Amino acid sequence: MLLAAAGGGLCTCKSTGQPSPAPEQRNAGDAAPGVRADVRTRDDEHPTYWNRVADILGTSCTKCHARGGIGPMPLTSYADAREHAERIVQETSARRMPPWLPDTSACAPLRHSRALSSSDIDALARWVKNGAPEGNPEGHHETPANRTFAEVTGPADRVAVPDAAYAPKRGRADDYHCFVLDPKLDENERVTALRVSPGAGAIVHHMILYEVRKSAFDRIKELDEKEPGPGYTCFGGIGVTPQVKAGKPGSGQLVDFDAQMIVAWAPGAGATDVAGAPTALPEGTAISLAAGSRLVMQVHYSLENLQPAMTDKTRIEMWFAKDEPRRQAVWVPLLKYDFRVPAGAGPGDPRTTARAEIAMPFPLTVLGVAPHMHLRGRSARIESLDESDPAKCLLDVPRWDFHHQEAYWLDKGVRVGRAALTCKWDNREASQPLSNGRRRPTKELRWGEGTDDEMCLAFLYTTL
Ligand code: HEC
Repeated sequence: MLLAAAGGGLCTCKSTGQPSPAPEQRNAGDAAPGVRADVRTRDDEHPTYWNRVADILGTSCTKCHARGGIGPMPLTSYADAREHAERIVQETSARRMPPWLPDTSACAPLRHSRALSSSDIDALARWVKNGAPEGNPEGHHETPANRTFAEVTGPADRVAVPDAAYAPKRGRADDYHCFVLDPKLDENERVTALRVSPGAGAIVHHMILYEVRKSAFDRIKELDEKEPGPGYTCFGGIGVTPQVKAGKPGSGQLVDFDAQMIVAWAPGAGATDVAGAPTALPEGTAISLAAGSRLVMQVHYSLENLQPAMTDKTRIEMWFAKDEPRRQAVWVPLLKYDFRVPAGAGPGDPRTTARAEIAMPFPLTVLGVAPHMHLRGRSARIESLDESDPAKCLLDVPRWDFHHQEAYWLDKGVRVGRAALTCKWDNREASQPLSNGRRRPTKELRWGEGTDDEMCLAFLYTTL
């Protein structure tokens, strides 16, 4: 869910996360023990596939680990779970799976946490230690998926999909591609919910959707026409530098801009945690789209599971507000451009830290946060700065992972007058990203859109 960065390139690339679960954030599997108690006894002492493990996998894993999903293998049957039992324990005990980056222990509670509870992690470990028994399927009910976001009813008001299917570029691990779509907006609309349906679920790692207004069409057109086939290659952003200004008084528009982020999506991420369910924006809020705008859909393809002749046509559906009042929300960028991280610099070197601060024109309510760095990011932290309460942590991502980033919704909105973003990098030789199995050389890191450039950026989903 991102917006356009003032001045420097849009950002991108949210998806899933890494660990550090908050004890207060539970998955549905834990949330409903009372409900199931009479059906079948959940047994933490003697966990079997059917009395415990199937529920954990169903609640927390199979959104991605299903046939055709982005996870490298399905975990939808006893045979699957047994085959991968050791790896399941390794990944869950290290809190690498399910992907969930934030540590909320000292920060604002978040919605839609994907983190496993300690009792789930222990149950998986005990199950494997006891030889991964199957148990008795009798009385087993499908786990109700974790569904905590607003219901969306009725068919979508608008569908946008590329004209032609896209064949990702081969011979590399990742491909970032931007598609230009015309949602045929005759009037201004207010988006309240979206659904993203990847055409090739096994390779669509994440998607970020932007609105591009008329004043930026030429630039997008140029990029689109430079490359044959649908769309154009893009990495850190969509390739335009959005201009953001204060809205005209009395216009009801908070800000005026030529491009903005609408939503960031990843399989199983955030509010999209039920496969196929729409992402509803926080209640009472909407993102305004201008008549005539285009959409630019940036898709990150992860090509490990790419099959011969596989193509993608990712589809976007949007729901619009009717007459009900909605507060306009915008993703306000918070960023630092002028950092320089020397080659080889690692933790402890102050030059690996950058800090951005923003003063809102007046206090605004922040309902969501989406940090963004590239491959050498080490951690990201977003704080609200207030005279009375000097640093209230909105989000802490202690172990940054470019491949598992997304936007996070706060449990409760926070009034923010000033905010700060702190980014840290690790630019040591041994921490460089791999490309085609080889470590890239370390080099000075600066702001930029390329795979080898860096960003220090966060978007705050903000309303009046
Ligand atoms: C949001 C999608 C998503 C969810 C949810 C998810 N995974 Fe994964 N999983 C992945 C992806 C993608 C990978 C490939 C490695 C990576 O990108 O980190 C992976 C890798 C793994 C691996 C390593 C496989 C290997 O090749 O070694 C295991 C084991 C695993 N996941 C288990 C789980 C379990 C168990 C759960 C639930 C408790 C889970 N995952 C939830 C997406 C997901």
